[in-house]
Amino acid sequence: MNPIPSKSLLNPADRVKSPCSCGHQQPPRAGDNSPNSPVVEVIQGEVAFNGTRVLRGVTLRIPQGEIVALIGPNGSGKTTLLRSILGLQRLDAGEVRLFGTSDLSSVMSRVGYVPQKLSLDRSFPLSVREFLALRLKQTHSWLWQSRRAVADAIRPTLVEMGVEPLLERPMAGLSGGQLQRVLIAFSLLQEPDLLLLDEPTAGVDTPGEQSFYEMIGRVHQRHKLTVILVSHDLSMVYRHASWVYALNGVICCEGTPEQVMNADSLKQAYGIHVAPYHHHHHAQ
Ligand SMILES: Nc1ncnc2c1ncn2[C@@H]1O[C@H](COP(=O)(O)OP(=O)(O)OP(=O)(O)O)[C@@H](O)[C@H]1O
Ligand SMILES: [Mg+2]
Repeated sequence: MNPIPSKSLLNPADRVKSPCSCGHQQPPRAGDNSPNSPVVEVIQGEVAFNGTRVLRGVTLRIPQGEIVALIGPNGSGKTTLLRSILGLQRLDAGEVRLFGTSDLSSVMSRVGYVPQKLSLDRSFPLSVREFLALRLKQTHSWLWQSRRAVADAIRPTLVEMGVEPLLERPMAGLSGGQLQRVLIAFSLLQEPDLLLLDEPTAGVDTPGEQSFYEMIGRVHQRHKLTVILVSHDLSMVYRHASWVYALNGVICCEGTPEQVMNADSLKQAYGIHVAPYHHHHHAQ
């Protein structure tokens, strides 16, 4: 079994590779909207907080249709990098381009984002149906739409995410894993081309993680999405990502899961000894 989804992936040989020990090759600058432009391009991105450089010369290029994993220890800058890609965090130097443009606000409607943490106050007043209705283009004034019309519009996405029974539940009463699925549904209703998921299984129990990633894989295929996935779960990264960036302030290494999941690469990323990763094929 090939654990790496092969659909619409670039041949890894076409990718810019940077071995851990040598610096980066600078990728060619894509300044146009040609179909071959990367969906995401970060060029020598720098971010500092209070004089501490959190991202240092980060360069990455993500072509259309890949599931790319971003791994790295706590505090290595993963969330900061996602926020920079979204234009929520200003770069101190360097550049972010999405869909070939550096005018990020002009393409934000094509981007879905599920943040690492979202804690809803118990008094958050909306049900799942009311919350998702906010996303429907035709229901800007959802109060005037019938419940049935809203439910019919969002049901396929809820079914896809496996949370249809939660339709009338209060958002504030959802478990962490249920909330993550509803938030992904919220992003999908916008029909994004790019989906950014920051540790989407943080609130999911271990048995639920596998089905969660399989669901992400199906969503990726069905919606022809490009996905950036922050994850600490190396076995899931191995199974579902087509390309991996290991971050620790700098991009320590990048490559296919097989290339990155060796001890030297991970040691470089995590700064500690990590046992080499062996992928086990599971009987289906
Ligand atoms: N707004 C901020 N102001 C000051 N420091 C910040 C800010 N945001 C992030 N940092 C710091 O930048 C560093 C990188 O944070 P970031 O959240 O990007 O790491 P991360 O890789 O996502 O970590 P985790 O795995 O714990 O989620 C951390 O040291 C963090 O404390
Ligand atoms: Mg984070």
